[in-house]
Amino acid sequence: MSFCKLVSFVLILHLLNSCLISCSSSSLTSDGLSQIPQKFLTLAKRDDIFNWMVGIRRKIHEHPELGYEEVETSKVVRAELDKMGVSYDHPVAVTGVIGSVGTGQAPFVALRADMDALPMQEMVEWEHASKIPGKMHACGHDAHTTMLLGATKLLKEHEKELKGTVILVFQPAEEGGAGAKKIVEAGVLKKASAIFGIHVTNLLGLGKVSSRARLLMAGSGRFEAKISGRGGHAALPQFAIDPVVAASSIILSLQHIVSREADPLDSQVVTVAKFEGSDAFNVIPDSVTIGGTFRALSNESFWKLKERIEQVITSQASVHMCSATVDFLEENYPFFPPTVNNEALHQFFKNVSVDLVGIENYNETQPVMVSEDFAFYQEAMPGHFSFVGMQNEAHSPMANPHSPYFEVNEELLPYGASLLASMATRYLLESSSLPNKSYKNDEL
Ligand SMILES: *[C@@H]1O[C@H](CO)[C@@H](O)[C@H](O)[C@H]1NC(C)=O
Ligand SMILES: *[C@@H]1O[C@H](CO)[C@@H](O)[C@H](O)[C@H]1NC(C)=O
Ligand SMILES: *[C@@H]1O[C@H](CO)[C@@H](O)[C@H](O)[C@H]1NC(C)=O
Ligand SMILES: *[C@@H]1O[C@H](CO)[C@@H](O)[C@H](O)[C@H]1NC(C)=O
Ligand SMILES: [Zn+2]
Ligand SMILES: [Zn+2]
Repeated sequence: MSFCKLVSFVLILHLLNSCLISCSSSSLTSDGLSQIPQKFLTLAKRDDIFNWMVGIRRKIHEHPELGYEEVETSKVVRAELDKMGVSYDHPVAVTGVIGSVGTGQAPFVALRADMDALPMQEMVEWEHASKIPGKMHACGHDAHTTMLLGATKLLKEHEKELKGTVILVFQPAEEGGAGAKKIVEAGVLKKASAIFGIHVTNLLGLGKVSSRARLLMAGSGRFEAKISGRGGHAALPQFAIDPVVAASSIILSLQHIVSREADPLDSQVVTVAKFEGSDAFNVIPDSVTIGGTFRALSNESFWKLKERIEQVITSQASVHMCSATVDFLEENYPFFPPTVNNEALHQFFKNVSVDLVGIENYNETQPVMVSEDFAFYQEAMPGHFSFVGMQNEAHSPMANPHSPYFEVNEELLPYGASLLASMATRYLLESSSLPNKSYKNDEL
């Protein structure tokens, strides 16, 4: 090779190289808004970022923590935010972390992940199974926390192009503890115009997304009732007042509320899941405790259910000469309102999703009877919640959430991270035509 050829060869290499560098970090908006999701997805799938996310998810999965006890999880979150140079507040709502990326100026948009695990034993045998007996990430909140950290990295890499500020909400205690309510009450989202959240689902293929406008998930509450009679010898019922038979009759009557009183087209659920009586075979107990949950798709049906549950329990108890007290446990388990998606934000979500994964991977879903404390954010500002699929074709069907066999297909992490980053970035760019807290163009 002549000297001249060598020089031009080196020059070409150099040009190629600089193009690789500058092309990979090209401006988000250079090819228009619709290209932003793809750019983020490509970035999130890059080996270094993907492997980093998988590592975080496994670390969190191995150390599940229950609501308001997310001490180690929040440490992991803060360590990663520190490494990225992202500032944050902590503790917020006991163990929560609130970070921010962007200009520090309005508009503000929030992204939310939940961090808590469930009190159950993992039955999946794999290298990174839960190391804490009786606790497990069986709802995918380990993936949610990771995907929000992933989104943070994507946003941080393009921070100068953000047209406002993204508030990163790592909340505690979604599973019953209503961490979202405490975050709202802490006042850290006062400036946020809108909020987005996602949940993994085993019911959709990898990278498919779904949601719907308006009603998405049910409102829910818990109840516990103590039915008191008079204990005695099991062979001499005439000297006792049997709360076991009274409780049994109460449970059957509770089932008539939904089957006989509710509109069959207005879905509702009453489930008694707990029944505690005597430990002995030959003793009629003094009292029995029952407990369960109730769900409805509207506020009106929810409050009606609550009223009837109390009436049925106390009235049926007196039919059996027992007395009953009913406790709705709101102190520790605030009622979750129905999850209601803002209609215009749903159209926005659809637009972003179609740009991310294509119309063939986008689906509208029916409302479901599970509930989410994300609803508390939606009471405070326009919000949108959606599902991201992770079904593994080679390993189907995958176990449902809250199953001890629940697994996360980690290939989903780049999809969730880029969906969150895209929604925040696009919201800030398009905010003048989207709903915001001061201006709710929404109906319900
Ligand atoms: C969604 O995209 C359509 C078609 O480009 C556009 O007309 C509409 O304004 C967009 N809506 C939102 C809320 O972004
Ligand atoms: C999801 O959407 C695709 C494309 O619009 C459609 O072909 C498919 O039938 C839908 N799947 C479900 C479960 O609704
Ligand atoms: C339920 O009531 C709350 C608080 O009054 C309200 O913000 C929410 O939109 C209502 N939800 C539905 C589905 O009506
Ligand atoms: C809020 O929405 C209104 C109405 O669409 C719009 O005029 C205003 O610019 C929005 N505010 C922000 C901060 O985006
Ligand atoms: Zn759950
Ligand atoms: Zn969950």
